[in-house]
Amino acid sequence: MSNVSLSTLKKLKFEGKKFAVLTAYDATFAQLLSQAGIEILLVGDSLGMVVQGCSSTVPVTLEQMIYHTQAVSRGNQGSLIMADLPYMTYATVESALENSARLMQAGAQIVKLEGGAWLSKTIEKLSCCGIPVCAHIGLTPQSVDKIGGYKIQGRDKEKADQMLSDALILQDSGADMLLMECIPSPLAKRITQQLQIPTIGIGAGPETDAQVLVLHDMLGIATDYAPKFVKNFLSGSDDVQQAIASYAESVKNGSFPGPEHCYDL
Ligand code: KIV
Repeated sequence: MSNVSLSTLKKLKFEGKKFAVLTAYDATFAQLLSQAGIEILLVGDSLGMVVQGCSSTVPVTLEQMIYHTQAVSRGNQGSLIMADLPYMTYATVESALENSARLMQAGAQIVKLEGGAWLSKTIEKLSCCGIPVCAHIGLTPQSVDKIGGYKIQGRDKEKADQMLSDALILQDSGADMLLMECIPSPLAKRITQQLQIPTIGIGAGPETDAQVLVLHDMLGIATDYAPKFVKNFLSGSDDVQQAIASYAESVKNGSFPGPEHCYDL
């Protein structure tokens, strides 16, 4: 795979071609995933749960994200590296700029932050300073205590309209991508159709421009209960490499996610 850039992904959206995203936390998996044609390696703060054994992403620190981003960057062979800004590292515009710069210096090529329209000033600033941004809406795990658990978001009309409005504001503020987690498929479709920037879905149905899963979930090795939107690609594959290739192919040919992995309104 030749080096993936933001323009590669915008072109794929424009051509109606889907792309694949998986989380990666170390150099070995970064190499396997990029060799299998996974366009984006997400150094997700989900590492707090699947690597560190915490019960949420809240305890993850910037220093830990930097460490894992550096490791992924060493193994990567041409995928785009996206890194999460962890809990409370972007609560002000100034802290977001300073902490994003550290992730970019560690090897990230785009940073991801969780939230809606309230992030517009932050995204404007990062964008002006040349830092690509992916906004994460819907279920935002860093706010799990405020939301009251890992629940589907945007099921009623008022919340769905608010989410669409947030998505448009985030795009206008300079976001380069939008990730939507755990929302009804028709809402994710509506948002994807209205945006020029690529959308990535997890538990958001088949109509987003890309799909992401947590690596451990997709290999069926996470110790926690697997949400409805997860598929175990290792089951039925000969080895880990084949499971990753099967995930990439299923996302790109649109066979994953199937109706059994989706939420309705
Ligand atoms: O941290 C992460 O792995 C994520 C995915 C759940 C999208 O943000």
